[in-house]
Amino acid sequence: MDKIRIRGGHKLNGVIRIGGAKNAALPLMAASLLTDEALVLSNVPHLADITTMANLLGQHGVKVSLEGHSGDDGHAGRTISLAAGKITNTKAPYDLVRRMRASVLVLGPIVAREGEATVSLPGGCAIGTRPVDIHLSGLEALGAEIEVEAGYIRASAPKGLRGAQYVFPKVSVGATENLILAACLAQGETIFENAAREPEITDLCECLIAMGAKIDGVGTAILTITGVDRLHGAEHAIMPDRIEAGTYAMAAAITGGTVELEGARLDHIDAAAAHLRKTGTMIETCNGGVFVSRENTDLRSVDVETDPYPAFPTDLQAQFMALMATARGTSVITETIFENRFMHVPELQRMGAEVTLQGNTATLRGVDQLHGAPVMASDLRASASLVLAGLAADGVTEVRRIYHLDRGYERLEEKLRIVGADVERVEDS
Ligand code: EPZ
Repeated sequence: MDKIRIRGGHKLNGVIRIGGAKNAALPLMAASLLTDEALVLSNVPHLADITTMANLLGQHGVKVSLEGHSGDDGHAGRTISLAAGKITNTKAPYDLVRRMRASVLVLGPIVAREGEATVSLPGGCAIGTRPVDIHLSGLEALGAEIEVEAGYIRASAPKGLRGAQYVFPKVSVGATENLILAACLAQGETIFENAAREPEITDLCECLIAMGAKIDGVGTAILTITGVDRLHGAEHAIMPDRIEAGTYAMAAAITGGTVELEGARLDHIDAAAAHLRKTGTMIETCNGGVFVSRENTDLRSVDVETDPYPAFPTDLQAQFMALMATARGTSVITETIFENRFMHVPELQRMGAEVTLQGNTATLRGVDQLHGAPVMASDLRASASLVLAGLAADGVTEVRRIYHLDRGYERLEEKLRIVGADVERVEDS
């Protein structure tokens, strides 16, 4: 297994190209199940989770073909064509679903199109219990009958789903996506209230509209969807990855460097940018992306609380904590989305961070210098946090279990090397 070795202390300087968003790509790929025509997605990131979703779709009968690269540097996002002429298998097996929770996103589209779907329950994960009860109660509201047996969810609606009014009891990105996908082919009108408003959901809605879906209220918490008999194929370019952009913005800030995030959208990371500015980091829109710089200013401590979009994203909490570990003063970080998303804390402590944990709150007293150490990644964003800490630390940091990183950051070590970091992927002995 590989590990990432970082020799810290180098300021980042240069241009980092931001890839397509993993968390937009996964529901968009599931949307291909709604039509017998090809859905062509460009700017698809090259990540392990994308391969897992492609394999899952393949076993449902979707023809997946790679149509080359969207960019001209040979590394930019790929273009893939997904053609679900016929759904040959309505079951998503445990073996694939356990690898990636987002697999549950095939449930809504398959039951909407085929009248039946059987999907393995995803199970828990490192950051929390992550139930899927809202996905299921929403599908029930749309007329599906749900049974959970022997670790599998079976949803059936032999006469098709029908429109309904459904108020999400809690803001859920995945449940909103699953139910939007289902409602597009339901009979009549569906009104969703308290829907998640993440940019990835807007991206999904825009693609579905290009496929012939009727969706009003895109980008708001109230979505009105008028079901149609069939959707058709479309071409869609996946939005840039806002979490990747936020991560590299924080990498620039923690090293006191200057980077341009090519292709990133500042309006997608408003809350993170506002917090970065309070730390003394400059962040603004520039030609074709986002410009980030912190030179000759000390990092200041800032409190943060995660919440659904448009507030500060939970997916940047761990990275912001690395930043606060080296800031002047005390900061309080509150995680409200997942109950166990502080697995990076003991690892950051091994690098000299002064953190105390109480429930869903971490209090950090910034230290002058973090120190390199061998550390263990526990999940995707925790891994990114440790890499950031390593960039700022003195000495050598080795991050193990980097398969987590490979699920969500494309060529992370290469991108960091281009802007001057001393980072390499080495074989773990
Ligand atoms: C999505 O997960 C993202 N994943 C996560 O990205 C992200 O952290 C999360 O949204 C929050 O922004 C993808 O888009 C593939 P939720 P999702 O449903 O949809 C509870 C990353 O690092 N809940 O919005 O699974 C849930 O337990 C990751 O890229 C229920 O109680 O998140 C959590 O506390 C990891 N019942 C809260 O809602 C349900 O049925 C929000 O979860 C569904 C969710």
